[in-house]
Amino acid sequence: MTVASTPMSVSRIPAPPHSSVDFGAIIENANIENMTDEDFALIRSTLYEHQVVLFKNQQGLTPKAQYELTHRFDPAAQGYGHGKTLDAKRSILHPDLKTVPHQPEVQIIGNGFVPEYEGLKNIKLVHPHHRKFHKHPISEEDDLDYTRFYRWHIDAALYDLNPPKVTTLMAVSVPKGRRQTLRYDDGTGEELDVPLGTTAFVSGYNMYDILSEEDKEFVRTSRIEYAAHPYIWMSGAKSRSDGLGLFSDGLELSESELPPIDESKIQILPMVWKNPVTGQLAVQIHPSAVRKIHLANGQVIDDLKEVREIVHRIQRPAIAPQFVYAHDWEEGDLVLFNNQGVLHSVVGAFREDEVRLFRQCNMAASEAPLGPEAVVA
Ligand SMILES: [Fe+2]
Repeated sequence: MTVASTPMSVSRIPAPPHSSVDFGAIIENANIENMTDEDFALIRSTLYEHQVVLFKNQQGLTPKAQYELTHRFDPAAQGYGHGKTLDAKRSILHPDLKTVPHQPEVQIIGNGFVPEYEGLKNIKLVHPHHRKFHKHPISEEDDLDYTRFYRWHIDAALYDLNPPKVTTLMAVSVPKGRRQTLRYDDGTGEELDVPLGTTAFVSGYNMYDILSEEDKEFVRTSRIEYAAHPYIWMSGAKSRSDGLGLFSDGLELSESELPPIDESKIQILPMVWKNPVTGQLAVQIHPSAVRKIHLANGQVIDDLKEVREIVHRIQRPAIAPQFVYAHDWEEGDLVLFNNQGVLHSVVGAFREDEVRLFRQCNMAASEAPLGPEAVVA
């Protein structure tokens, strides 16, 4: 009970040398299991001011409390961010997620064999490896020392369901020790030293702020149309080496190979989403799922290669090493992030005996993200 009486405190996550990362906060003394309205108000304002919030020593947090924290950001939200779309065996997300039986909005992700967890028995978790998704993977002999951004993304179904407002990620088991060198391998020679199995974040607000005035105008006035059933559609396609979108080799599934398409469920979203607290603008585009660009004048760019080139040109400056926050996971860390204001990526390659267990939760939002013209209180 003494914990509950210590007031919560907020501080910035210290940035490493040479970093230009301007987001991320730590909240100490949070009692998430028994949160008051005042506690939540502070957590919410901290989240929307800092985009990524770290709570330490949350080992005892139940899946239910994790769900309740996540749900409180959007009380009208009904279910998991991807709904039931992950049941589709051909979805590229299918192998990565297992559901907590008594809390179906919470997913188990990780690596290695776990005999029992939250009612699941003999679970075999597989950390997504870039080899399965990138066109030019790192060679076998370099694989344990060097790594890639696996896939920069927003957590979102991008068909039928609205992108979740926030995601929570809880580290239950974390293998210790190693670091890896992340290579961009995109001709820039850029590299980043990262902890094993980091989750990398970049700010969509910074992505907007560092654009030219002309590009700012372009992203403020253009909208992205996402592919129908995007994670099945892209299942044959391969990623760029920087994890920021796909190569255009005609490997996407054709309409006849996809489940039936309901045109009304196709998502056309602003390129720029407004922060509901600060009013800042973030470039928020899921680069792998883009299909068309709708311009302000009504014209539609539907050449897939051109669409991808435009999106990559807009996004690439903001994933440069100095703008990446690579979280160094410790057991008991709970990270809450603004899924409508940051992009994130899985990173790293584990050995089979390196056991990692995380819990992830997000909810398909009850409303579309705020566009650039939205008025915030
Ligand atoms: Fe994610």
